[in-house]
Amino acid sequence: MIGEILPAGVRFAEAFDDSGAAGWFPEEEALVARAVHKRRAEFRTVRRCARAALASFGVPPAPLLRGSRGEPRWPAGFVGSMTHCAGYRGAAVARSTEFVSLGIDAEPDDPLPGEVLALVSLPEERDRLARQEADGEAAAVRADRLLFSAKEAVFKAWYPLTGRELDFAEASVSFGYTTARSGTFEARLLVPGPELDGSRPDGFTGRWTARHGLVLTAVTVCPPGRPAPGAQGN
Ligand SMILES: CC(C)(COP(=O)(O)OP(=O)(O)OC[C@H]1O[C@@H](n2cnc3c(N)ncnc32)[C@H](O)[C@@H]1OP(=O)(O)O)[C@@H](O)C(=O)NCCC(=O)NCCS
Repeated sequence: MIGEILPAGVRFAEAFDDSGAAGWFPEEEALVARAVHKRRAEFRTVRRCARAALASFGVPPAPLLRGSRGEPRWPAGFVGSMTHCAGYRGAAVARSTEFVSLGIDAEPDDPLPGEVLALVSLPEERDRLARQEADGEAAAVRADRLLFSAKEAVFKAWYPLTGRELDFAEASVSFGYTTARSGTFEARLLVPGPELDGSRPDGFTGRWTARHGLVLTAVTVCPPGRPAPGAQGN
């Protein structure tokens, strides 16, 4: 499913449950030794997915550890992203010569709880959601959850490039609908963007899809001056 929203050059693997999770490393286990069973299971499964995606580039299995803010540490020469939610685990990786960063996120296609939308969105984003709901454009997906997911994907692409936090109020995300259940999005950065080879992008672009009770979003950041490749569509 994630392949539908990833461009050519990004390899991925996904799982819809934790069966078959095997082949983890003691260094990884140590990171979740005190976690509850569910957390250990998703942690293992998503790393199995990441290793499968890396193996398609010929990368041998190795522990996938994390930095101080939780960011995954990818093998030299690769960028990537991982996500998990109820019923979904996914990983995407690419060569760092082709992409400078990736961010993927999965969420259940359910309304955000309580007052969460107000905490994670800007007034202009809520206005756009209201307009899309009024036009019936957002009828087939929970647009509040989609917005949240896109912002999480933006953060996962942002952090490895900057090593800095990005508050929910520091990016403004707007959506395009290709179909009722898939499309694109643009994240306009309201703070200075990451420095990439002397240029400073003022935003990121991404794609989204919603099916099987899930919302998936993906942000891919290309080297400056290189146009984003088209979606794989598989
Ligand atoms: C880090 C964060 C984005 C994770 O998202 P989530 O929906 O809670 O969880 P997901 O299951 O989708 O993703 C978890 C994975 O994200 C990855 N991740 C965690 N921290 C990360 C970081 N700083 N940078 C990149 N990836 C990160 C990890 O691979 C993690 O999986 P693991 O713990 O098994 O290794 C979220 O917890 C967070 O801190 N959000 C606040 C910042 C933000 O989103 N700002 C919005 C800017 S517009």
